[in-house]
Amino acid sequence: MIALSDGRAILSFPTSKDYKRIGEGDRGPNTGGMGAHSPAGIFGATEFDGILEHVLEKTIAAMREEGAEFRGVLYVGIMLTDSGPKVLEFNVRLGDPEAQPLVMRVENDLLPILMASARGNFEGRQLLSSKETSACVVLASEGYPEKPVTGQVIMGLDRAASCDGVQVFHAGTQQVDGQLVTAGGRVLNVCASGSSLRVALDRAYAAADEISWPGMVLRRDIGQRVLRLSAEQSQNGSAV
Ligand code: GLY
Repeated sequence: MIALSDGRAILSFPTSKDYKRIGEGDRGPNTGGMGAHSPAGIFGATEFDGILEHVLEKTIAAMREEGAEFRGVLYVGIMLTDSGPKVLEFNVRLGDPEAQPLVMRVENDLLPILMASARGNFEGRQLLSSKETSACVVLASEGYPEKPVTGQVIMGLDRAASCDGVQVFHAGTQQVDGQLVTAGGRVLNVCASGSSLRVALDRAYAAADEISWPGMVLRRDIGQRVLRLSAEQSQNGSAV
């Protein structure tokens, strides 16, 4: 979960989930993240409220009490276990690629909220998020994460960016002699919004399929486990 604090209050983004391994089925080496979606779809309002109250609010209050008031972005990485959600890590930044689907859902102007967080007073501001789902598929270079091959000409970006509900965020790209080329391991984040996770993923993958360069790598299973879980739970009569 990712939230903003002004040192006392917390404004939380909705939940998000990333996919860390390079390979489908969560195989192979860890990466910064090969895809993400929001909401996470793996826990409900009770867990969300529990993490907000027992992890985020307590952390911010404790830091203030210790004289180390924290303003800014607080990212708590959570792992769901049989005995409930457990904290894996804290970061003081937005996640990548979680930030992209989260920002796509923000309905109000984020800049004044970030400024208010940094200045230490939200002054009653809210962080409003749309009810839509958003998903992100990362397009990476051949050889990522160990030794990415760079300098490949990227094709199809305009077609991808004009797909319904799609936004493409650049990560490792560069203009060379008027051409856009790959310049890093994770190159592009192809993101889409939709009325459901299925719709958002279909749109993101349709846009990703418009883009190509030699050796381009992507995972085809972003969100699939959550869709399966969601189908199983609705068969059993409970919502994810
Ligand atoms: N996607 C994980 C991170 O940004 O730490």
